[in-house]
Amino acid sequence: MNSRTALVTGGSGGIGKACAAKLCELGYDVVLSARREGPLRAAAEEIGARYIAADASDAVGFAQAISPMQTVDLVVHAAGTLGGTYARKQTFEQWQSIISANLDSCFVVTAAVLPRMRAGSRLVFISSSAAHQPMMARTAYSASKAGMNAFARALALEVDRDGIAVHIVTPGPVETDMLQDVPFEVDAIQVSDVAEAVAWLDTVDPSVDLPEIRLNAVRRGPFAREPVMPSEARRRAAQQR
Ligand SMILES: NC(=O)c1ccc[n+]([C@@H]2O[C@H](COP(=O)([O-])OP(=O)(O)OC[C@H]3O[C@@H](n4cnc5c(N)ncnc54)[C@H](OP(=O)(O)O)[C@@H]3O)[C@@H](O)[C@H]2O)c1
Repeated sequence: MNSRTALVTGGSGGIGKACAAKLCELGYDVVLSARREGPLRAAAEEIGARYIAADASDAVGFAQAISPMQTVDLVVHAAGTLGGTYARKQTFEQWQSIISANLDSCFVVTAAVLPRMRAGSRLVFISSSAAHQPMMARTAYSASKAGMNAFARALALEVDRDGIAVHIVTPGPVETDMLQDVPFEVDAIQVSDVAEAVAWLDTVDPSVDLPEIRLNAVRRGPFAREPVMPSEARRRAAQQR
């Protein structure tokens, strides 16, 4: 029995819930967090986790919400939002809300958990391939994920002396609700693929610095999966008919 505690932000979403379910299976005491209590409660009941409703971009509120947690051995930061549009169409408010959810949250979550971590603890940041290959019409999202990666690497340089490991998991498209806003067909991996990678990272010896894992769908050959047609792509295709 694992008596370690894991905090999974975005725990009611596709990737967060799959990671949390895997960690529950491995015996972790798992705490999910996200803003909306209804989906959080449902996810927690389904997988056998606890939950805390909190906005990961609200420094004071998030710190207060997780204050009952005494130790945190593993954090999976999967809270985030896609959204956004072309720079010439986007409002500053839209820009801020994406940067806030995806990048400010990296600092907010880290600042709240670090005092609860000890030698052997880990932080895993769920980034996106947009960090390396920025997406047209997703300026804020791409910038936020590149920022997340830079934040995580700078953090790794700071906390190695305390025996705390920092990893980035960088998936290409993953079949979740978030993908449904994408206006074209995509080759996607499954949430379980991300969860397996997170679980494996947690087995890496703490003496090893493993900055990043990148996961993408195989596009051809015997193991290629059927491409995913997001609902937005289906809607646009129907409009053109
Ligand atoms: N799906 C993909 O294709 C894909 C690919 C690469 C990377 N990613 C990344 O993986 C992460 C998870 O994505 P997903 O596909 O699982 O998305 P999802 O199913 O839409 O879930 C997003 C989760 O984040 C929570 N959340 C959003 N804003 C928040 C905030 N300010 N504070 C706290 N929680 C917040 C949502 O709950 P509430 O709305 O209730 O707060 C939800 O639990 C994101 O960072 C995303 O960028 C996704």
